[in-house]
Amino acid sequence: MNILLQSTAAQFPQYVSAFAHALPQARLIPWEERAAQPAPYACIWDPEPGSLAQLPDLQVIFTLSAGVDNVMRERPSVPVVRLVNAGMAPQMAQYVAYGALHFGRNFDRARVFQSQSSWEENAFGSVQRRVGILGYGTLGQEVGKALQALGFEVHGWRSCDTREHGEAGLERFLGQSEIIVNLLPSTAATRAFFNAERLAQLPAGAALINAGRGSTLDAQALLASLNSGHLRGALLDVFETEPLPAHSPLWQHPSVLITPHVAAATLIEPSVECIARNIIAHGKGAALVGKIDPSAGY
Ligand code: GLV
Repeated sequence: MNILLQSTAAQFPQYVSAFAHALPQARLIPWEERAAQPAPYACIWDPEPGSLAQLPDLQVIFTLSAGVDNVMRERPSVPVVRLVNAGMAPQMAQYVAYGALHFGRNFDRARVFQSQSSWEENAFGSVQRRVGILGYGTLGQEVGKALQALGFEVHGWRSCDTREHGEAGLERFLGQSEIIVNLLPSTAATRAFFNAERLAQLPAGAALINAGRGSTLDAQALLASLNSGHLRGALLDVFETEPLPAHSPLWQHPSVLITPHVAAATLIEPSVECIARNIIAHGKGAALVGKIDPSAGY
């Protein structure tokens, strides 16, 4: 069974051995050779513009990521299935816990006091406990459990909550989120979700952790909010343009911590197991786990 695979040359053999274990009948074909070798399945994350339309044999696309925006941008005509439970949740929980502790326990102030050789034992007393997680799906709920175990009070928000409770409900949710965790997927509906107005709805002194997609946050509005002192800081893993351009003022901002889209990496073995389970299910005509709703875009 032919399966197209988009990967680096270094990772290709690792995928071959993971598939040999999980789905021995699989024959992996480098994505670059797609024109010559018809395949019913493709495992990809960032197809070139127009490339999907040239693959008439394709039946299902599996993304090698939890986010599917790069693939959905191509408006594929076959089902798209994302990675679910492929080892990302513990990584995402660790990433968000790091940020929540950094701001929540005032450790962002430690560096400043240290630079002044200043022993400020009373500056670490107040703790920001209330965390709002926006995008409370599979990953978000796992993150929530990890934060609860660390003593944070966690509130989650999904798009169905906005339908049920409206903008006023969302405003209340944001207004109580001392630490706001953004795990929103990138869709037409979430574009610049965090604009100046929504950032202003966060409580004064709130911190923002963005580990979803860069397009959901207006970086200019974030900078303005940080500079006005309304937001105390931000931990950012994702950006509208990646790599983040060297001239971006975010790099040098004293209240911003930047990581290069590493919060939750794709782990080859669990990802291949997740895809193999779905390929077997597809062969039997069973439901695919993680199938994207094209109208919602996630
Ligand atoms: C990473 O950003 C992913 O979508 O898996």
